Amino acid sequence: MKENFNIAIDGPAGAGKSTIARKVARTLDFVYVDTGAMYRAAALYLLRSGLSKPSGDLTEDFRQEVCSRLKDADIRLEYQNGQQVVLLNGENVNPYIRTEEVSNMASIVSAIPQVREEMVRLQQKIASSGNVVMDGRDIGTVVLPDAQIKVFLTASVEVRARRRYLENLEKRKAGKQVSSEDLDLEAIAKDIAERDYRDTHREKGPLRQASDAVLIDSSEMSISQVAEAILNLYADKKGRPRVITARTAGFCFGVKRAVDAVYNEAENGSPIYTYGPIIHNEVVVEDLRRKGVDVIHTPEELEGRKDATIVIRSHGVTKELQQKIEASCARCIDTTCTFVKRIHEIVEKESAAGKKIIIIGNHGHAEAEGHVGWSKTPATIIENEQEAECFDGDKNIPLCVVAQTTFNGNKFSELVDILKQRQYNVTVNNTICNATRERQTEAGEIASKADIMIVIGGKSSSNTAKLYEICKEVCDRTYLIQTAEDLDLHLNGSEKLIGITAGASTPNNIIEEVQKDVRRTDF
Ligand code: F3S
Repeated sequence: MKENFNIAIDGPAGAGKSTIARKVARTLDFVYVDTGAMYRAAALYLLRSGLSKPSGDLTEDFRQEVCSRLKDADIRLEYQNGQQVVLLNGENVNPYIRTEEVSNMASIVSAIPQVREEMVRLQQKIASSGNVVMDGRDIGTVVLPDAQIKVFLTASVEVRARRRYLENLEKRKAGKQVSSEDLDLEAIAKDIAERDYRDTHREKGPLRQASDAVLIDSSEMSISQVAEAILNLYADKKGRPRVITARTAGFCFGVKRAVDAVYNEAENGSPIYTYGPIIHNEVVVEDLRRKGVDVIHTPEELEGRKDATIVIRSHGVTKELQQKIEASCARCIDTTCTFVKRIHEIVEKESAAGKKIIIIGNHGHAEAEGHVGWSKTPATIIENEQEAECFDGDKNIPLCVVAQTTFNGNKFSELVDILKQRQYNVTVNNTICNATRERQTEAGEIASKADIMIVIGGKSSSNTAKLYEICKEVCDRTYLIQTAEDLDLHLNGSEKLIGITAGASTPNNIIEEVQKDVRRTDF
């Protein structure tokens, strides 16, 4: 008989257990059992029945009152449309169980032995029926003492308070009801510390790390990094290759800002166009098209758009085109990345001061072509060694060199060196964006250790092409794919590590799909 695989994640409140457990379960196709939600549902039931939080220690009368009232509470977990819902007497109470008030009551209720016993029985029954990821306070020690993987996930009180504060702030921004106490960082921290004390000192199932649990301190880690660490524990247990996803994979700050702006604007319902595809990713462009966002490709297509909103994408455009767009539409949203704008300023200023502008970049790339258009005198794009060798400029005119933000850093230095060796008077502005530099460095580092490297990105994305180039140089089995559907992975069982990175235009959901498929690929 196939053995069920159980992953137990314990830790204090606010360590991110449920988000991470959910992510791990999704990737492995396991059932996620949200034990905290079960206690929260019980707490909600009690609050609704008029019982309030005791001011001091728990009295015997209070405990008995809780047990007696909960006799009428039927709590279940179910999957509805792929979402786990908590049913309280048949009602989906997911929207009501995440408040601080419910949270506090849940912590009090979970300290009552009779309540815990009943919940544990329920949780063990769920775990015995399939592969599960379960999170709580005593899963590894009490509920699933035989779980194959046990993790104790923690983070400092300050970090947890800050996370809770930011969550509450987001809730308020989204129009949800949030009390002033929920937005008081000091009060939240105090509350978390008190809850830690209660959870670690309760008589039944106190919060403690199981002796065979792996400790993960998430204070300095992202959700994805923690999930990946747990998934790699699973890979180790199963004798499968570990998977490392680059921290820098996916949308950079400039692309995220541009894509968010278009999605926000699409909600308004007025005619909206982007000048050129907003990013080099057909999936996103298609999704936006379905939401009514069309793409304009030429200046001629600007005609007749007086009522429209036109978005300039993060690559930017020439000065002339920018003015034309602004004049031809009702509203222009300029999402040119600030790093690209900085290059426009350098090019405009230095060309006006009499320097010849050299752009180290790709011919035909929208960003590089945009830079050319900010120069007051004819600028030149240099893409490779041959062009640097053949460049025939007036040696009396100083050169101002800038880089396309996504250009390969090593190649940029090589091309600059050629110009210098040829005795040109060169001022170098290494304008390769940090996000690109970090992404390239990290991709190279992972690829150099990996047996297989997967680079995800659009077919026409130049920064993705460069990532592929960098990885391929050090990892022969490097694959370039656009989506998980393109992945044709063959493992021979000798692989220890698979690396994943993605270009700046790759949305998170595509990266997650690829991670999932890689983790599930059989030998
Ligand atoms: Fe901007 Fe750098 Fe991204 S220039 S658009 S943050 S790659």
